[in-house]
Amino acid sequence: MPDTLTITDNRTGKTYEIPIQHDTIKAMDLRQIKVADSDFGLMTYDPGYTNTASCKSAVTYIDGDKGILEYRGYPIEQLAEKSNFLEVAYLLLKGELPTSSQLSAWENEIALHTVVHENIKRQMESFRYDAHPMGMLVSTVAALSTFYPEAKQVHDEDNRWLQIKRLIAKVPTISAFTFRHSQGHPYNYPNINLSYAENFLAMMFQMTEKEYHANPEVVRALDILFILHADHEQNCSASVMRAIGSSDADPYSALAGAAAALYGPLHGGANEAVLRMLEQIGDVKNVKSYVDSCKNGEQRLMGFGHRVYKNYDPRAKIIKRCADEVFQVTGRNRLLDVALELEKIALSDEYFVKRKLYPNVDFYSGLIYQAIGVPVKMFPVLFAIPRTVGWLAQWKELVEDPDQRIQRPRQIYLGKRTRDFVPIDKRG
Ligand code: CMC
Repeated sequence: MPDTLTITDNRTGKTYEIPIQHDTIKAMDLRQIKVADSDFGLMTYDPGYTNTASCKSAVTYIDGDKGILEYRGYPIEQLAEKSNFLEVAYLLLKGELPTSSQLSAWENEIALHTVVHENIKRQMESFRYDAHPMGMLVSTVAALSTFYPEAKQVHDEDNRWLQIKRLIAKVPTISAFTFRHSQGHPYNYPNINLSYAENFLAMMFQMTEKEYHANPEVVRALDILFILHADHEQNCSASVMRAIGSSDADPYSALAGAAAALYGPLHGGANEAVLRMLEQIGDVKNVKSYVDSCKNGEQRLMGFGHRVYKNYDPRAKIIKRCADEVFQVTGRNRLLDVALELEKIALSDEYFVKRKLYPNVDFYSGLIYQAIGVPVKMFPVLFAIPRTVGWLAQWKELVEDPDQRIQRPRQIYLGKRTRDFVPIDKRG
């Protein structure tokens, strides 16, 4: 059987044979389908890109029906159990797991770039005391491009690697500064003797103690959360990273755009929204009426549902286990009972079952962040730190892909057509 699709245009009776590759047809192959020679040709209409592949990728694989997530072919469950975040970062960016000498060189290189220019610090000090940390992160990452003007040379491979390392190293520093700013505390400088996750916790929480060491269980839990959030193929923010990158903009500008996309409550801002929702529900006895209000369309059950997963999000399963371990150290989060009851009711309710709405990565992550002392406003920032790696892996793949061109979708124009200008005294 040929790998082709035969299309008959009933407007003209003409038949077209279109090649199929990787279970996909090329949208441009439809352009030849016309009624008259002067026609533009057939397009596809796909708001939200629910059935459109924008690229070929070898970074992350998801099977949403089976609940499978793999980075470069490695199951997320194995990476969460056996790896650490910087090793996973290397894997996502380079395609293979590092040898031990490659890993220690990589960890050193990242550590060397963790400091930011003092002017970045001064710029951050000018934000209001109650500025949302995501707004601070987005604008400060964008500002980094002014410190590294050579980052514009996106087609120079060495240059690309330099900016990649700088971003992975500096985003946690800037993120911790956003927190210190909101607390009115002095910003802590990075400590290169600590691991990636522990250094972040030290920059967040170290006060007057000479040496700061976070609880190892908490460090490991944060590292696992970083692994789980590192990439998720062509989601909203990764697509923004690619869209901005497709104009050859520098990676700082592209990453600021991606972080802005992540901030929305339907995407990475959902972890913040979940916590606010759990606080609003407040008690197990209020869960049922809250679920009813979601079914009536008054609001969404935050942390539930996913464009791709039509099964339990594999990341949510790991986070749930992780939460139990963290709570043994920090004490149980009082909102856990509300979350468990919400999950129980939703998973057995026909509305959610029929629509295949399961808990996603954001449902339990906030409970852990809160238990380790991170304020709710910081939750999307904790998502952005590891996702920086995924954005960069997607951006690197885009820049190196000869198929890619500047992103420029089409539209179906339904507005008015050519008409004469009406002078103001003749209008109305
Ligand atoms: N609560 C109640 N109903 C929902 C929910 C929800 N959380 N999510 C989807 N639905 C319903 C929706 O109303 C629709 O019902 P109907 O067919 O009767 O109109 C149906 O399910 C399909 O929803 P959709 O909006 O067409 O699905 P989508 O793929 O466009 O949206 C989503 C995916 C993640 C934006 C959505 O499920 C949602 O808003 N969830 C809550 C926000 C959230 O937790 N986001 C985090 C996603 S995972 C991490 C990340 O992406 O960063």
